[in-house]
Amino acid sequence: MHTLQTIEALDDCLAGPRRRGQRIALVPTMGNLHAGHLALVHHARREADLVVTSLFVNPLQFSPGEDLDAYPRTFADDRAALEAAGCDVLFAPSTRTLYPNGLDGLTRVQVPGVSEGLCGGSRPGHFDGVATVVSMLLHLVAPHLACFGEKDYQQLAVIRKMVADLHIPVEIAGVPIVRADDGLALSSRNGYLSPNERTTAPKLYRILGAMRDRLARGEVPANVLDDGHRALREAGFTPDYLALRDTHLAPVEADTRDAVLLAAAYLGPARLIDNLTLQLPA
Ligand code: PAF
Repeated sequence: MHTLQTIEALDDCLAGPRRRGQRIALVPTMGNLHAGHLALVHHARREADLVVTSLFVNPLQFSPGEDLDAYPRTFADDRAALEAAGCDVLFAPSTRTLYPNGLDGLTRVQVPGVSEGLCGGSRPGHFDGVATVVSMLLHLVAPHLACFGEKDYQQLAVIRKMVADLHIPVEIAGVPIVRADDGLALSSRNGYLSPNERTTAPKLYRILGAMRDRLARGEVPANVLDDGHRALREAGFTPDYLALRDTHLAPVEADTRDAVLLAAAYLGPARLIDNLTLQLPA
């Protein structure tokens, strides 16, 4: 596996594969890799000739007061895990490489509609930061395919819309959530949980599952959402949002069948997110 820090080294490394017409896949990450990230790499490995993983803790997507400084940096372990997963190129640029002129006055990509509300409501500017860095990475790597986890459901919707609106010639793959045995969706932020909080954390998934079953039976969404909020608080979470949307994140209408339940909730220092798709009855 090649480990590259500069745009020039990336260009040199990709020139040959591009010339030979090899299919390139990109897996953008912020490091601190777990089995969820490695599932993205495995998907990329199956679908492409050359797998590039980027590792960059993007300051632009953290609001002041968020966990940018505390975000776990585990480069040596990440590198070893990527090598073992069959990644070909690790692109790990510095902040100065991607943002040589700093963040002030930087051109930003804003994706209206899908980036508003939910995580976009509680984390102002977050999706502008994500869309900007992902568009930059897509431009630098020019992959045929880019892989993102379905755990970040809204992020995936933002990236799909950005790619469609800007005519970026890349296929976007959503890869299913990877869960621990007890159901907790894997996330780098799970590392912030104390042992007690870690025992509570899978209740987020269980509560969403119980809500999904009730909604699929045709129960009134407002009642199910009220009960879900209560169940989260009783379990020890501070809910940020709990929402039922259609799969494009638009409000649910009478004729909506394909829907998604989305939640974000604080548990101690961690902000956990999760989602479950479901079919609403006719
Ligand atoms: O999902 C993430 O880890 C990040 O938001 C991403 C897509 C790598 C952009 O920094």
